[in-house]
Amino acid sequence: MAARARPSPFAASLPARADAKAMDAADPLALARNLFSLPPGAIYLDGNSLGALPRATAARLQEVVRDEWGGDLIASWNKHGWIDLARRVGDKIAKLIGAEANTVSVGDSTSIALFKVLADALAHNPGRKTILSERGNFPTDLYMAEGLAALLGQGHRLELVERVESIGDDVAVVMLTHVDYRSGAMHDMASITAKAHAAGARMIWDLAHSAGALPVDLAGAKADYAVGCGYKYLNGGPGAPAFLYVAPRHHESFRQPLQGWLGHAAPFAFEQAYRPAAGIAGATTGTPPILSLAALEIGVDTLLHFPMAELRAKSQALTEIFRTLVQSRAAELGLEGVSPADPEARGSQISFRHEHAYAIVQALIAQGVTGDFRAPDILRFGFAPLYVRYVDAWDAAAYLVDTIESRVFDDEKFRRRQAVT
Ligand SMILES: Cc1ncc(COP(=O)(O)O)c(C=O)c1O
Repeated sequence: MAARARPSPFAASLPARADAKAMDAADPLALARNLFSLPPGAIYLDGNSLGALPRATAARLQEVVRDEWGGDLIASWNKHGWIDLARRVGDKIAKLIGAEANTVSVGDSTSIALFKVLADALAHNPGRKTILSERGNFPTDLYMAEGLAALLGQGHRLELVERVESIGDDVAVVMLTHVDYRSGAMHDMASITAKAHAAGARMIWDLAHSAGALPVDLAGAKADYAVGCGYKYLNGGPGAPAFLYVAPRHHESFRQPLQGWLGHAAPFAFEQAYRPAAGIAGATTGTPPILSLAALEIGVDTLLHFPMAELRAKSQALTEIFRTLVQSRAAELGLEGVSPADPEARGSQISFRHEHAYAIVQALIAQGVTGDFRAPDILRFGFAPLYVRYVDAWDAAAYLVDTIESRVFDDEKFRRRQAVT
């Protein structure tokens, strides 16, 4: 990316670029960036969509492909522990989300994981027919709930509210995303879970924008279930398997409808009738994606080297620099902040609304600053604290201001919608 050869677009009272560089020099996490392979000069603010590539991943995948698959073939299931890999990665993810050991299953996608936990939640509250969620929740969560309700054919329905305040006595399960994918606003997990329980409902948390970005305490919050993506802050790679948590108190009764052979108590007995494996193993459906799991394990291991409290502190400082700088020019540029001003009330992203959001994001990408666009008018910037530097946050804010001020986004090529935004 070409160096930005323009004067600072921000007031002298705000942090200067040199201040950001000084923060990088003092950053205890600064060296973590070396664990990732990033294009030179890239300012990558999309780790909330697709995490960066850990340097160790390629070598590990080569080993699994060449030596294990290529060398030992099917013997690798036992010899190289492939059959236990999902459980091992699940236990590692558990440490990042405040879950007990043997409570996290890994595989499938977040959408499928949601289907499984929703089905169990509904089955345990047969007298209640409502799945309660928020209008702004991630669409797949709502689609899966609607699909399951239709499939069950027992009069279940999805009720959507702006914010979950009161929980009626027909609600079987409350399903929320912990950190909102558009605004970055974060729910209070413990208090909403307690409210759901007090109303006789179970609670599902989607941790897609939380896991690996901030401390999560599923056990402390007494959550019933959680799901989340492996490809965002967990750096597991495109289409990485998702995770699924079931609280230990529900293990004995846990049943999910996608009962495949590898969730059977004795898969290699090839029994005709399904008997669920005990505990979280019963959440498994089919053969685990070993290559993807091997990549995800490296992504999770990379995170586990660092204290989550330090990651959170840096993420809050990064988002604060970016938000403060952009906000200082927002009104005159037609930008409207949509993320909470209080760092404690948000995840690791900052979003703004602008009528030309799509074209602005494309123009930024052309200059080496990658954020993303979320319909209808949101510019979204994720700050993965392992590899984003303070100077990146400063530069990104300056590029954003320049891009809008100069109207370089006002070009046909930046308005053309691509399949993935
Ligand atoms: C909050 C949330 N839930 C679920 C998903 C989708 O998960 P998957 O593609 O693994 O089904 C996403 C994807 O961005 C998301 O942001």
